[in-house]
Amino acid sequence: MESVEKANVTKGVRVFVTCDLDVPIRDGQVVDTFRLDAALPALKYLQDKGAQLVLAGHLGRPDGHFVPELSTKLLVPYFKEKLGEGGFELLENLRFDPREEQNDDFFAVSLAKKADLYVNECFSTSHRAYASIIGVPKYLPAYAGLRLMKEVETLRAVIKNPRRPLTAIVGGVKLETKLPAVFALLKMADYVLVGGKLGLDWHGDVVQNLILPKDYALGEKDIGPETITEFRRIIALSKSVIWSGPMGAYEESEFSLGTAAVIEAISTSGVYSVVGGGDTIGAIKKLKSLSVFNFVSTGGGAMLKFLSGEPLPGLMALGYA
Ligand code: 3PG
Repeated sequence: MESVEKANVTKGVRVFVTCDLDVPIRDGQVVDTFRLDAALPALKYLQDKGAQLVLAGHLGRPDGHFVPELSTKLLVPYFKEKLGEGGFELLENLRFDPREEQNDDFFAVSLAKKADLYVNECFSTSHRAYASIIGVPKYLPAYAGLRLMKEVETLRAVIKNPRRPLTAIVGGVKLETKLPAVFALLKMADYVLVGGKLGLDWHGDVVQNLILPKDYALGEKDIGPETITEFRRIIALSKSVIWSGPMGAYEESEFSLGTAAVIEAISTSGVYSVVGGGDTIGAIKKLKSLSVFNFVSTGGGAMLKFLSGEPLPGLMALGYA
C-alpha cells in the first residue's frame, strides 16, 4: 500500500478520491465535519500539484434509491469553502445506485473512467467490498490518502503491542457490523464492555471477559447506574481503551448519562485511548472534547474490524498485506 505522496501527480491529472462523506446531517445542515476535515490535507496536497479532484462517497444507507436528505449536494457548500469554487467535482451519493453495494464491475469501470488515479481517503468504509472501494482501484493506479495512512499506522500499533489491561467498549446501533468485531475483540481484549442497543440485543454466549449492562435507564435508551459504576471501575483499572458506539441515545441529554460517564472515566483515568465512529465522535463533541483521546479514528465499524485483526477489503485493494 503506497501513500498518495508516491503518486505521480502533475497538472491536470484527474484524481478520483473516495472520501468519508458519511457525516451527521440535521435539517439539511452538516452537524459535524470531523470526517470531512480529515480528508482536507490530502485534497489540498493534490490541489497544490494541480490535480483535478473528483470526490466520491456515500451518506447514510439509502439502499440503492434516491433520497433527497442524503444527497451529497448538501456537502457542496463545505467543499466550496475549503477547496474553492470550481476546485472539485463532487459525485452524487454512490449508494443511490444499487450497483455500488453490489460491487458491479460496469459501475466500477464507469467511475474509473472519470479519472487517471485513484485515492482511498475513506478509511471508515474500507471494510465494505463495494465498487468504489475495491472495484475502481482495479482499473486505476491506486494509492492511500494521507489520513488513511495515519489510521492504519496508528491502529496497527495499538494491536501490535497493546498496553494491558486492554478494554474494548462497544455500543451504538449497527449490530450486524459490530457483532463479529465483538467476538474477535473478546479473544484479544482483557475486557469487552457492551452498551447501547448492542447490549440489549446480545444473543451470544456470555464469556468471562464480556461485561453486559446490568441495568438500563429510561425505557432502555441508556445504560443504568449500576452498569455505569461497573464500566467506570473497569476503565479505571485499564491501561488502554478502544471505544466505538455511544452507550445510549445521547442526542437527547436525558439519555446521555452513560456516554458522558464513559468519556469522563477515560479522561480522568489517563488511560491510552482510541475512539472512532461518526456517532461516537458526535457524542464526544457534544459532551466534552475530542482532545481527551489519544487517537480519534474516522472509522467506526472499520476501526473495530481492523483492531480485531480482520483484513479490510479496501486496504487489500491497495496492496496492504
Ligand atoms: C460508517 O459510518 O461507519 C461508514 O460510513 C460506513 O457505513 P456503513 O456501515 O453504512 O457501511
